Amino acid sequence: MDMGQLSDIVVGLLEILSFLFIFAIGIGILWVLVLYVHDKMQTESTLKRNYPVIARFRYLFEHLGEFFRQYFFALDREEMPFNRAERSWVYRAAKNVDSTVAFGSTRDLRPTGTVYFVNCPFPTLEQDAIEPGAVTIGPYARQPYTTDSIFNISGMSYGAISIPAVKALSAGAKKAGIWMNTGEGGLSPYHLEGGADIVFQIGTGKFGVRKPEGGFDEDKLRAVAEHDAVKMFEIKLSQGAKPGKGGILPGAKVTEDIARIRGLEVGQDAISPNRHPEVDSIDDLLDMLNYVRDVTGKPVGFKAVIGAYGFFENLCKLINERGPESAPDFITIDSADGGTGAAPMSLIDNMGMPVRESLPLVVDILKKHGLRERVKVCASGKMINPSEVAWAFCAGADFVNSARGFMFALGCIQALQCNKNTCPTGITTHDKKLQYGLDPANKAVRVAQYAKNMKKEVGILAHSCGVAEPRLLKRYHARIVLDNGRSVAMDELFPEPEVKAAE
Ligand SMILES: Cc1cc2nc3c(=O)[nH]c(=O)nc-3n(C[C@H](O)[C@H](O)[C@H](O)COP(=O)(O)O)c2cc1C
Repeated sequence: MDMGQLSDIVVGLLEILSFLFIFAIGIGILWVLVLYVHDKMQTESTLKRNYPVIARFRYLFEHLGEFFRQYFFALDREEMPFNRAERSWVYRAAKNVDSTVAFGSTRDLRPTGTVYFVNCPFPTLEQDAIEPGAVTIGPYARQPYTTDSIFNISGMSYGAISIPAVKALSAGAKKAGIWMNTGEGGLSPYHLEGGADIVFQIGTGKFGVRKPEGGFDEDKLRAVAEHDAVKMFEIKLSQGAKPGKGGILPGAKVTEDIARIRGLEVGQDAISPNRHPEVDSIDDLLDMLNYVRDVTGKPVGFKAVIGAYGFFENLCKLINERGPESAPDFITIDSADGGTGAAPMSLIDNMGMPVRESLPLVVDILKKHGLRERVKVCASGKMINPSEVAWAFCAGADFVNSARGFMFALGCIQALQCNKNTCPTGITTHDKKLQYGLDPANKAVRVAQYAKNMKKEVGILAHSCGVAEPRLLKRYHARIVLDNGRSVAMDELFPEPEVKAAE
């Protein structure tokens, strides 16, 4: 081919390209005109009617803002529910990379409610530090459960989270020696795959252990308990993010597998009732606890967000009337600001007590009634960094559970889409394409490293306070800033009651 032919071809191509370009511009202008007329004529959106076409960018930017503000605009301590500093600590702990920070704290220690710990002039030497001891839960159950873990995986159902996420949590929990709660979606093979200790949650829908017409299917309950890995049962009364509302799994997330495990129709919204229909009083609650313990032989507790805490006084009185064997083996106190797969905003924002207040109150009520040793206390709610976990031990918890901390360990970027099927990190979606990036083997290591580094750094706080392990932390080790700018020791805000003689 000579130069003349080549230049003819190039000229020809350029002509086609310029034609396509002009054609595309023409189509574009036509499209804008159609949108303009549509926006002007429609009556649903005022903005679009007043600012045709241009107003559409608002929706685009609003949507993109959710993703971009965390990278470009938000300060380290600014975002909700978790700011960048909090999330970064989890990411670093999960990757087991250096978790030190430089220059100075970016945390403002002045706002009301800020917690700081009081360092001991003579901190605990490394050689004097001890590991948290083993705790036995359910001394009256046929098979009590003993564990030395202090920080565990809170309930997230298979359904709310994906198969690779459940697998990674289960294998990670096993590596770290911690327990994993199933959440209210029943027990799946993926929970069992990693070999971790499992707490089976009985939600108000009783998924996995119910008769089709409602109520317990005793055979199914017994079958769950026959798994060695299932160590305890947790009856869910309520959850911090949505007290008074049952689980909500949108139909988009109810796959064939999930429908089979839960006993539902594919694609149908899984809405569980507001409460267990048969539990209408503290008598009923103790009856159900004892029924499940009798059938399964394993420790049984309940999970609740605290609202009307007169309930706990009455519960403790009834337990003492019936005898200590009738008591729940543990209670999980969830915070009003806890997380969820899906909940109405009015409940997420406004209902129930934050754990900051409810945990010390409940611990004190148990103490007052001589039940503190009998009933173990788990606390959950936004405790994803060591300082919050250490605070919970100061307040009197035996264990701390976290859901969203472990989601961050799995790679969650706080995209706030758990209620859709579009989670970009594959954790809360059943879209296989989105799950592709979540490698269970890799993420199991991160889950385990997060749990181990959490335990290590809560230990560092404890040693700085002068005690040998986290469960020896006391209320006087934490101070809380009041609205006059001064801080007060937690034991002054929540004075511990006299312990009943029986204890
Ligand atoms: C995706 C997701 C699913 C959840 N599913 C359940 C559930 O099935 N049952 C339950 O009791 N709590 C459920 N929770 C609440 C957590 O167990 C926990 O109580 C709450 O999130 C507080 O812990 P966090 O602040 O560490 O997340 C879920 C939370 C999330 C984020």
